[in-house]
Amino acid sequence: MAEIAVFASGNGSNFQRLVEALRDTRHSVSSLICDRKDAYVLERARLLGIPSYIVSYEGKSREEAEREIISTLKEYDISLIVLAGFMRLLSPQFVDTYPDRIINIHPSLLPKYPGTKGIEESYYSGDRELGITIHRVDYGLDTGPILFQKSFKRTGGESLKEIEERIHALEHKYYPEVIIELLDSIETENSKNY
Ligand code: GRF
Repeated sequence: MAEIAVFASGNGSNFQRLVEALRDTRHSVSSLICDRKDAYVLERARLLGIPSYIVSYEGKSREEAEREIISTLKEYDISLIVLAGFMRLLSPQFVDTYPDRIINIHPSLLPKYPGTKGIEESYYSGDRELGITIHRVDYGLDTGPILFQKSFKRTGGESLKEIEERIHALEHKYYPEVIIELLDSIETENSKNY
């Protein structure tokens, strides 16, 4: 079995889907790292019985906050860090602490529309094809190697809310699937090296 830590800053619907989907596998979500004490994801973690850690970035440098995160994660045997709406850019030092082991989901077809307004920018672009991207995290903002993309064609008549719902439905279906596949292959690799 393999464990993941999820990092989230807001609503946490992807966090919840990951927890629920992994419960049907040998793997699990061991912990939640959240940088905002008022984030709804903390309530979800409480209801789901997942330990959560609030690491505030206020009044400290990014590196100090990340050192706190690293020391919290040392309590766990984490195979992957899974970002799910974590609204902070991780430092190169942090990324290097978990080489190739940090995954992110983004609500657009990267490299188009990186950053915090992926859905809105996709919507207003007029592009016919919209979608989601799951990728490894590197030093840049939503720039790491792409592992998975899923797209759909819009008619043009949808509202922003309808497009948002469609994108979230794709995220909730495919993020757990991709993460479970990665964990299965990490587990297989580990057993070969044992
Ligand atoms: C998702 O759209 C994800 O792609 C983006 O942030 C959003 C998080 O939503 N990175 P939620 O907090 O999981 O509901």
